[in-house]
Amino acid sequence: MSMNLVTLLYLIASVCFIQALKGLSHPTTSRRGNLFGMIGMAIAVFTTVALVFKLGAEIATAGIGYVIVGLLVGGTAGSIMAKRVEMTKMPELVAFMHSMIGLAAVFIAIAAVVEPQSLGIVEHLGDTIPTGNRLELFLGAAIGAITFSGSVIAFGKLSGKYKFRLFQGAPVQFAGQHLLNLVIGLATLGLGLLFMFTGNIGAFAMMLALAFVLGVLIIIPIGGADMPVVVSMLNSYSGWAAAGIGFSLNNSMLIIAGSLVGSSGAILSYIMCKAMNRSFFNVILGGFGADADAGAASGSTEQRAVKSGSADDASFLLTNADSVIIVPGYGLAVARAQHALMELAEKLTHRGVTVKFAIHPVAGRMPGHMNVLLAEAEVPYEQVFEMEDINSEFGQTDVVLVLGANDVVNPAAKNDPKSPIAGMPILEAYKARTVIVNKRSMASGYAGLDNELFYLDKTMMVFGDAKKVIEDMVKAVE
Ligand code: TAP
Repeated sequence: MSMNLVTLLYLIASVCFIQALKGLSHPTTSRRGNLFGMIGMAIAVFTTVALVFKLGAEIATAGIGYVIVGLLVGGTAGSIMAKRVEMTKMPELVAFMHSMIGLAAVFIAIAAVVEPQSLGIVEHLGDTIPTGNRLELFLGAAIGAITFSGSVIAFGKLSGKYKFRLFQGAPVQFAGQHLLNLVIGLATLGLGLLFMFTGNIGAFAMMLALAFVLGVLIIIPIGGADMPVVVSMLNSYSGWAAAGIGFSLNNSMLIIAGSLVGSSGAILSYIMCKAMNRSFFNVILGGFGADADAGAASGSTEQRAVKSGSADDASFLLTNADSVIIVPGYGLAVARAQHALMELAEKLTHRGVTVKFAIHPVAGRMPGHMNVLLAEAEVPYEQVFEMEDINSEFGQTDVVLVLGANDVVNPAAKNDPKSPIAGMPILEAYKARTVIVNKRSMASGYAGLDNELFYLDKTMMVFGDAKKVIEDMVKAVE
């Protein structure tokens, strides 16, 4: 395979990746986006394997077996995990995958430092690695190591299954933490520069060890509530690590794909912070989780009266309405009630009720969570509206049906400047004539806050698991 053909194939794969990102930005085109991503990755893998052959008979025969075994093991494990994972567990799967990308970058950097001739960085064993390449290897390895250990901690925090203190959702904070991070960060940088200027392998190894520690230290003070933002930030890091290694290996595919992942992850983190009205630096420095826990404690001690009703009462209100807006939230995903909801919406529409769905950008636990959920149930896209497009309609709506959502409809974000979510844009459900809220109890949502919406005169709470309640509503509507 000639180098021109390799470059051309990498270029085609890159265009596919750009098309994939473009497609994934809207539910109607997301399947096409995914397809482009798969085609791009297949071309990239095929071309890289072909390139291994081109590098020389010795490497090709010795190395290709490992490459194929790696592809089979990685591909099989990835497919099984992706098939099995529940939507609500997606963020932790993504954290796990980022940790693997970080580790891969570290391994490649170690291989390149120890045997630069095998990767074509120098001609013969013993030749000095050029300073520019040493800088790229230092950056790729350091970012990869931080991504790996940070993602492992993020995975533990998100899964909530492990007793280990560092894997708990609550932030781990101690005196002098930021100073310690700064010192370790500077030491990592210093050792990296030492390696860059002198080629000292000891400095590279110590730099790597410190970067692993730094990854842990950066993530432990961040509360569970901010973890999805952190995962998206680590996504960005993993892209930059791959791009850094791409420069060392002179591999344009890695540089382009890494930069795409790096920049899209950074943009996503920014969008998420904006949608939650959080400063990116506050997230990185931790603290929101701590506030959230405090809010949860204060919210749960207060016992206030709410109006509650049955699924039958709710159906009566829904069938007598002209317009209904449905607000899905995390609880709907937990209950896997999207298909029942679709049935309810169809029945109401059939009876002449105008039904719309309102999506908050951070409803659920990951970007686009609710869009994916509704798409799974084949809710027509023209019935699904983003927050900025539907907020003006709540005031003229008869009934808002809030299903397993809490923070995203909490008026405290608008009315209480002291609230931890103050300033976060919300779906203005409280403006509707009647509000029906389904959740299992009066427990708080992710930010751990009490919600004034539940106590309004016009609000009726319907307690119970979302799936069961919606199924009962469907029966009652029939
Ligand atoms: P939440 O505020 O977390 O509220 C979900 C509610 O669902 C809970 O109050 C819970 O109450 C209820 N629930 C749980 N299981 C249920 C079930 N089986 N049936 C019925 N209800 C159930 O959810 P939200 O309104 O979607 O807001 C998302 C939160 O996550 C926001 O704070 C957001 O900032 C945060 N967050 C989101 C993202 C992204 S990108 N989506 C990223 C970071 C943070 P009960 O326990 O009483 O049932």
